[in-house]
Amino acid sequence: MADIDPSQLIREAVMASRRAVAPYSKFRVGAALLTPDGTVIRGANVESVSYGLTCCAERVALFKALTEGHRDFTAVAIVAPSAKTAPCGACRQLLAEYAPAARVFVADSRRPAKFREFTVDQLLPEAFRFLKVTSKRR
Ligand code: THU
Repeated sequence: MADIDPSQLIREAVMASRRAVAPYSKFRVGAALLTPDGTVIRGANVESVSYGLTCCAERVALFKALTEGHRDFTAVAIVAPSAKTAPCGACRQLLAEYAPAARVFVADSRRPAKFREFTVDQLLPEAFRFLKVTSKRR
C-alpha cells in the first residue's frame, strides 16, 4: 500500500485543474485519485454549451480510472478556485459507490497548502448503494 501524501495528491489535482475545459463558468476544478499501488489518475471538469451535459472533475477522474481497470482508491484530492468548495451531490454518490474508503482532501487551488479532509461517509451518509429485492414473488 503506497503512502498517502495529501500535499502531493493536491498538487496533482492542481495540475489536473489546468486542463479543465470550462469556457462558460471559467471555474477550473481538478481531481486526483490515488490507488493502493500509488497510481494517480487525474480529471478535470468538461463543460458543454448545453450546460446540463457538463461533467465534474471528480466524475471525469473516476470514469477514467474505472475504465482503465482501477477499482480500489485510497484517496482523492479535489481543488477549485474557491475557499469553500466541496464535491457536488452527484459526485458524492459516485464516490460512495466506487471509492467508499477513500480519504477525501479538498483545497482551494489558489492556496493548496491548506486543505480540509473528509471521509466519503461524512460527505454522503446513508448512501444508496445497491438494489436488492427483498420481497417474495407472488
Ligand atoms: N464542478 C466540478 O467539477 N465539481 C464539483 O464538485 C462541482 C462543480 C464544475 C462543474 C462546472 O464545470 C463548474 O464546476 C461550475 O459549476
